[in-house]
Amino acid sequence: MNTKKILLLLTATLTLAQAAFASGVAGYPNDTFQADLTNKVSLQNGAKYFINYCAGCHSLQYQRYNHMFKDLEIDPEIGAKNLIFTGAKAVEQMHTGMSAAEGLKWFGQTPPDLSLTARAKSGAYIYNYLRGFYLDDTRPLGFNNSIFAGASMPNPLWELQGIQKPVYSEEKTCATVDGKEACETHSTLTGFDIVTPGILDKDPAKNKEAYDQVVYDISNFLSYVSDPSALDRMRMGPWVLAFLAFLTMIFYLLKREYWRDIH
Ligand code: HEC
Repeated sequence: MNTKKILLLLTATLTLAQAAFASGVAGYPNDTFQADLTNKVSLQNGAKYFINYCAGCHSLQYQRYNHMFKDLEIDPEIGAKNLIFTGAKAVEQMHTGMSAAEGLKWFGQTPPDLSLTARAKSGAYIYNYLRGFYLDDTRPLGFNNSIFAGASMPNPLWELQGIQKPVYSEEKTCATVDGKEACETHSTLTGFDIVTPGILDKDPAKNKEAYDQVVYDISNFLSYVSDPSALDRMRMGPWVLAFLAFLTMIFYLLKREYWRDIH
């Protein structure tokens, strides 16, 4: 294979990989999500919501409290008082108070550790999953999720979001088989209607906006947790590049010095 072919192959592979990553999640809702690790307010808010609404069931076993305080610029004293409810020390990892066996008994599934979920399943997955709970009489608890069908997790944020029911659009397709017309209706989930309003705002449209922001912040926080050193890399990047530029200049001057007598 010549170089041109190899290059072509490489480009094609990269484009494919990019398409796979950019596609997000299938189903409804299917909104794009872009983490913003420089937005400390969003990350702090996400941490607050996570501790209050998720940490009772989910651990973050690779994340230590004190690292989180430092990275998110949370005062260690305020953090210890307001964000540690398990009696853990700040140097410890963020375990949950619930044991795996209890989780299995209560929910039929052990709530998974969420340290790496944003990397394994993407931030967009979490962002859409937390907005995909809806009323469904056929489920044991009366709820289902449009992104993760049959999820055994109850909607932890239902008070904030409100309770919603699904809206389907029906599409009829007919075909003539052996002279007889046979029709099939397909229903696709295309939206949700709020049946019990959320408590974030009296206006349903504003409540949705506020709820989307809460979920964005939680997904943003979980994206940080899944790759905490990304913040360090972003901070160090410009210095590394400046250092390399400086070295290049030194080497160039050195080269000129060495070659001066040879020409
Ligand atoms: C009452 C316990 C409980 C709470 C509170 C809870 N979860 Fe869960 N969660 C579960 C259980 C149980 C599962 C496993 C679901 C399954 O596999 O059916 C789960 C699964 C998940 C998954 C993985 C879904 C997948 O595709 O594997 C994510 C992501 C998640 N939870 C996020 C959250 C977030 C974010 C919060 C807080 C806003 C939260 N959970 C609060 C019990 C809980």
